[in-house]
Amino acid sequence: MSRVLVVGGAGYIGVVLCEQLLEQGYDVRVLDRLYFGRSGLWSIQDRAEIVVGDMRSVAPEVLEGVDAVINLGGLSSDPTAEYNPEATYKINTEATRDMAIACKAKGIRRYVFASSCSVYDKGVLEDDANLLQTEESDITPTATYAKSKYDAERYLIDLADDDFCPVMLRKGTVYGFSPRQRFDLVVNTFVKDAFSSGELNLHLGGEMWRPLLEIRDAARAYIACLEAPEDKVRAEIFNVVHQNFRISEVALRVREALRPFNVDVDLRPTYGMSGIRNYRVSGEKITRVLGFEPSIGIEDSVTDLVTRMRRHQYTDFSNPRYYNIRWMTLLEEATDLIKVAGSMFDDPNAANAS
Ligand SMILES: NC(=O)c1ccc[n+]([C@@H]2O[C@H](COP(=O)([O-])OP(=O)(O)OC[C@H]3O[C@@H](n4cnc5c(N)ncnc54)[C@H](O)[C@@H]3O)[C@@H](O)[C@H]2O)c1
Repeated sequence: MSRVLVVGGAGYIGVVLCEQLLEQGYDVRVLDRLYFGRSGLWSIQDRAEIVVGDMRSVAPEVLEGVDAVINLGGLSSDPTAEYNPEATYKINTEATRDMAIACKAKGIRRYVFASSCSVYDKGVLEDDANLLQTEESDITPTATYAKSKYDAERYLIDLADDDFCPVMLRKGTVYGFSPRQRFDLVVNTFVKDAFSSGELNLHLGGEMWRPLLEIRDAARAYIACLEAPEDKVRAEIFNVVHQNFRISEVALRVREALRPFNVDVDLRPTYGMSGIRNYRVSGEKITRVLGFEPSIGIEDSVTDLVTRMRRHQYTDFSNPRYYNIRWMTLLEEATDLIKVAGSMFDDPNAANAS
């Protein structure tokens, strides 16, 4: 049996990937800071080894007995990256590079990295953004998150040689159910909004394009890259996208998928000019090279998401844990307060009193 280290394995995609690896007989070790706590680990914690630690300072024993690494760890959205650009670069870029160097020194050959289609976003609405971007497209990402991913890819490509096989997956925006649920990703957000307010807000009239990918397809793509012959994937970048849709069409599809659940939804276009994310991406290369094809569309995924979020009680939509930037802001505020005040249940003078 082969042991895979999943960095960020306690995250939204990480837990679903670990479930699939375990089902396929892999031995799984997770390295994660557990920023989102342990509650999302219920489906894997009895079967996987969970190591709580930071990817910026990986203890040598974490790599002991490991055959391959899949790195999904880090700050995983534009707002969280902008919150602390310096930490983002250290985690998403430098730690990704340094872990790869440590793997290479240890003879761990396969290193699969979670990059993102965000590297293609130019933040513009012009026609140019309608061009389908490929792995060959000329890009110069400037946003903190996209740049952190792009620079990490460059470092990994430089490390590739006959003994080291890094692979980069630029995923579209992911949707679907995970035991560590996120409701801050567009399809999932629409489902949450449909249930909590019955209104889906279409920023800029819903005109913007977005490449999308179901979470179980995302996990399958990692395993495909883990198992592919080295000469097909060494230093290769693969886009992983099921379909590109305008946001307005995403909303219409979510509305249709929710009809059987008797949820009525209004679509509300807005026309403020902030926060443009607009890009279309081709997923043709991974199909051509590896025969891999994403297969789960929005409607099937929404049906599954609603069924499982109800079954497992993920309907406390106001819980900040589901929204990365809200959760991170809250953790930072709490950390500052606790440094000064300590726990409200501890009496600071109790030791003196006794
Ligand atoms: N979710 C998407 O739509 C999407 C799309 C494209 C790319 N990605 C990338 O895929 C990866 C996984 O995304 P996700 O949605 O599961 O994100 P997530 O935020 O749910 O998971 C990230 C995990 O990394 C852990 N982590 C963060 N910093 C760490 C550190 N310093 N040391 C150890 N662990 C740390 C967190 O605790 C968390 O469990 C990320 O790298 C993200 O950038 C995600």
